[in-house]
Amino acid sequence: MKKIFIVLCASAMLYSCGGGGAKTEKKDTAATQQPTASANQYEDQALPIIGKSDCATCHKINETSTGPAWKDVAKKYEHTDANVKMLAEKILKGGSGNWGTIPMTGHPALTEEEATVLANYVLALK
Ligand code: HEC
Repeated sequence: MKKIFIVLCASAMLYSCGGGGAKTEKKDTAATQQPTASANQYEDQALPIIGKSDCATCHKINETSTGPAWKDVAKKYEHTDANVKMLAEKILKGGSGNWGTIPMTGHPALTEEEATVLANYVLALK
């Protein structure tokens, strides 16, 4: 009987130890794979483009302005290649009818590459 108790104790200790290890691992993955507003992997590339363009006059990250909050855009569309392409095209050519009656002006001064960075940045704002 005493032996069984010890075995149970030991396995309980092993279990709690393993659980702790798994937790740390999970935290690491979350930090590297889930960019947030403060750790958005596209931020370094996107902010200078946003700075030289006019996005901020109509968009805020968290609040609806003239255009939708970028966090809401990120919620509406999954971060897939197809959606990045679709939004990059809208950033370049303009768009309307998805959020209301106000259209977004096109941004022909941006390159396709820049628009793709911006679309990735917006979709990573989860
Ligand atoms: C003149 C105001 C204005 C400016 C400047 C502007 N936007 Fe917008 N944006 C809007 C409006 C309004 C909408 C909603 C359009 C709609 O209903 O489809 C929008 C929508 C969007 C969407 C979502 C498109 C969709 O189909 O859901 C993205 C992404 C976006 N803007 C990014 C940008 C970026 C990046 C810039 C800077 C390069 C920018 N916007 C500049 C007004 C603006």
